[in-house]
Amino acid sequence: MAKIIDGKELAKKIRQNLKIECDELKEKGITPKLAVIMVGDNAASKVYVKNKSKACNEIGIEYQEYILGNETTQKELLDLIKELNKKEEINGILLQSPIPTQLNINEAFKTITYSKDVDGFTPSSVGKLCIGEETFISCTPYGVMKMFEEYNIDLNGKDVVILGRSNIVGKPLIQCCLQKNATVTVCHSKTKNLKDHTKRADVIIAAIGQSKFVKEDMIKEGAVVIDVGINRSEDGKLTGDVDFENVQKKASYITPVPGGVGPMTIAMLMNNVIQATKEQYKAKNNYKLIYQYK
Ligand code: GUN
Repeated sequence: MAKIIDGKELAKKIRQNLKIECDELKEKGITPKLAVIMVGDNAASKVYVKNKSKACNEIGIEYQEYILGNETTQKELLDLIKELNKKEEINGILLQSPIPTQLNINEAFKTITYSKDVDGFTPSSVGKLCIGEETFISCTPYGVMKMFEEYNIDLNGKDVVILGRSNIVGKPLIQCCLQKNATVTVCHSKTKNLKDHTKRADVIIAAIGQSKFVKEDMIKEGAVVIDVGINRSEDGKLTGDVDFENVQKKASYITPVPGGVGPMTIAMLMNNVIQATKEQYKAKNNYKLIYQYK
């Protein structure tokens, strides 16, 4: 029987430590502030955004929501991002995806200034991650890596199979796992003989958005199974991409849904907002010092 990786508990511990960091910033007169932009009325996004606002409240991060209508134009969206880029009191900008199809999300992400890119989606953040420089890391992959760290799961030399190649999860995870010296395979909807890949994986990370897709016969005995999926069944119940009940009998470690990767994503977003605030404060002070010296 697999050990459960308790994302809920780990996320709570991370948020508690972040609250201490946030209180220290406030003592210096700095209040971190996150701006969240939501375009349209995607039901799942509303839930995610509500959870992000709750976490901000708990930690003491100010939270400002910008809700734009379904008919929003690209120019209106970019203008709002540019305005938020300029506002000194805003430390982090998050554009909740998905957005309506008439809009170009990559162009919108590109417009977010690097220093406020708490989601790690700008080309600068993605590029830095690829060449191993310190940067903002997309929150779900970052949360998964924190889980490995907490549970002493060493990826060195391990075969990691990632199911899904999204820009938000699959692709950044490739880089994160490579940095830990794993041998990484990425599978997707066009992959042939999927089971051949999953059966030899030491670690499987499922991020495909298909309820209970990973079955017991797809994994080897003792594999570590990380479930990034959040699917809602007709009766409103949350399910992951992994058939938890059966896979847990064979895995060595497994993440549950809910209570696994989901809370970690939010905790790492909070972490990125606090770090962004600190970096911006440092840069401003350095600038002042240089200016005074001159
Ligand atoms: N939509 C689903 N997950 C995410 C996320 O982590 N960040 C943003 N901005 N949108 C999302």
